[in-house]
Amino acid sequence: MATMAETQTLEEIARALVAPGKGILAADESEGTIKKRFDSIGAESTEENRRAYRDLLFTTKGAEEFISGVILFDETIRQSTADGTPFPKFLESRGIIPGIKVDKGAKALAGAEGETVTEGLDGLRERLQEYYELGARFTKWRAVISIGKGIPSDYCLWTNAHALARFAALSQESGLVPIVEPEVLMDGEHSIDESYRVTDRMLQALYTELFDQRVVREGSLLKTNMIVSGYGASEQADVDAVAEMTIRCLKNTCPGSVPGVVFLSGGMSDEDATARLNAMNQRSPHPWELSFSYGRALQAPALKAWGGTPENVPAGQAAYLHRAKMNGLARSGSYSPDMEKVAA
Ligand code: 13P
Repeated sequence: MATMAETQTLEEIARALVAPGKGILAADESEGTIKKRFDSIGAESTEENRRAYRDLLFTTKGAEEFISGVILFDETIRQSTADGTPFPKFLESRGIIPGIKVDKGAKALAGAEGETVTEGLDGLRERLQEYYELGARFTKWRAVISIGKGIPSDYCLWTNAHALARFAALSQESGLVPIVEPEVLMDGEHSIDESYRVTDRMLQALYTELFDQRVVREGSLLKTNMIVSGYGASEQADVDAVAEMTIRCLKNTCPGSVPGVVFLSGGMSDEDATARLNAMNQRSPHPWELSFSYGRALQAPALKAWGGTPENVPAGQAAYLHRAKMNGLARSGSYSPDMEKVAA
């Protein structure tokens, strides 16, 4: 018998991923990135530790009220819960849609110092078919754009946009909803206006390529950065400026046919990530759902509370559930910073 996910169209899956009150957990750290996260808590990055940590997150009771989907890494989609249930099957049983990161990372862009292009297109069609068989129903590809002296170049923006569209078209062909993620990094001394200009250029290029490569916008999602001041900038824009400029940029670039925009957290503090999303949703209605697909901003307190110790699993789960709930409230603009104190 076909499962519910098998009978859903791309548009239905995309809409389910941005259902009211819910967002996505990004748990797709590559081996290098998860090692960095584990180093920060003094835990060893063994396969079993990585499995145990993802197990902690995925089996948190009640998270499904706020989490619509989880982005997995290649290793993780093949792993199982402690009782041997494959992670994708377990997530589906909780009503959470499994997804998969399919890019192979940002590599130096030829002839463009300090800039990168994301690789992973060779053999992608075959990999996508396998991921579908393993239970994935959506995919993610991340391009990385740095702001600095004389960069980003148009060459970098368009090369990445072209690759993102090739990835998206192949995903849809395989019955998978693509999340296209051009991340304009928040590192640097640039102003919020510069962040706006670069994100605007990137998204214009992206939607031109998606159109040219026949990607069905209704069956896709955009994952992008909020428009913020660079972390090293002397002046930091406040929550209202971030909300207003981000919405303005998206209205100028992202078609209203796209069901949702799911933000990355990009190293913002957990509470900033929640408060800024909340401020945007307080300004609704918008043409698209505005939601989250946070990695660090959903996981950081859980990782710290767990610390690599099995006895701390309940504390880790409580910390994760709290952040999921706060971000779930931010989906409707009903979050307030006071809610953090109550839980502390
Ligand atoms: P962060 O929220 O930690 O930026 O991670 C989201 C993500 O998936 C980046 O590709």
